[in-house]
Amino acid sequence: MPHTQSTYLAMRYSRAVALRHERLYGHGYQGPSSEETFNDLTGRLRLRADFRVLDVGSGLGGDAFRLAVQYGVSVLGLDSSAELTDVCLERIEESGTLGVTFATGDVRDSDLLTDDSFDIVWSRDCVVFVPLADKLALWRRLHRVLRPGGQVMVTDYCLGPRGGSSEHTARMAAWDHYMISPAAYQTMLTDVGFTEVKMEDLSSQLKANMLEGHTRLLSERACFLEEMGKAEYERLLSRWERKINSCDTGEIVWTVLTARRPGEAR
Ligand SMILES: C[S@@+](CC[C@H](N)C(=O)[O-])C[C@H]1O[C@@H](n2cnc3c(N)ncnc32)[C@H](O)[C@@H]1O
Repeated sequence: MPHTQSTYLAMRYSRAVALRHERLYGHGYQGPSSEETFNDLTGRLRLRADFRVLDVGSGLGGDAFRLAVQYGVSVLGLDSSAELTDVCLERIEESGTLGVTFATGDVRDSDLLTDDSFDIVWSRDCVVFVPLADKLALWRRLHRVLRPGGQVMVTDYCLGPRGGSSEHTARMAAWDHYMISPAAYQTMLTDVGFTEVKMEDLSSQLKANMLEGHTRLLSERACFLEEMGKAEYERLLSRWERKINSCDTGEIVWTVLTARRPGEAR
């Protein structure tokens, strides 16, 4: 049976809700979008114009477009939300960007991921949505789609040292978030056969981006209220405040993880 989107994911990554969150995160994004973050992440990789990149959970395509434009690589953005794929395809049409394409599919079973044809698996904040029982099989799959010597660059929400309270667990379950600790993540990738597995806490970059969104929510309050009504505005504001707070309390850690499939890189 192919995987289907949960009710929460279908709502959260509908066109309307994603475009609303994009106004807070930054154009093309459902997460940290700054030039600083993008440069930090790409700086951890060897990038070459003839490389093929798989962007897992590409969302509104921010990184996929940037990678194609700035590095000349060819990018396939895969996302389980057909509505977001449509937005990305419209944006290709509007911008005439070359080298990037998007498809709808669940990374756990998409038939687009059949052979080891990718030089880089890139993913920003998507794997957290994959249930704990499926994570190991997913990483085995991602290992298989990489060419020998291929690289992984993933950002993800991990369980922080103070995560796991009943209140935090309930909130994460409501958001379909399935977090593991950075140490468990590192072990999982090593067990799957990746080498040079490295992790770093980038929560300060997440927090800086969330604070910018928070400032926008407050300074453009009237505009947001008119657009979405009071109840939805209050919900969004409280979601942003809770997420900022989770970085401070150590409930979540925003982590970057890099690794390599063993073998001679081309
Ligand atoms: C937090 S958003 C990040 C989007 C984008 N990477 C960014 O940084 O702006 C997570 C994305 O993962 C997608 N997603 C969640 N589970 C997925 C799955 N199993 N397969 C493919 N995409 C998935 C969602 O539809 C959503 O677009």
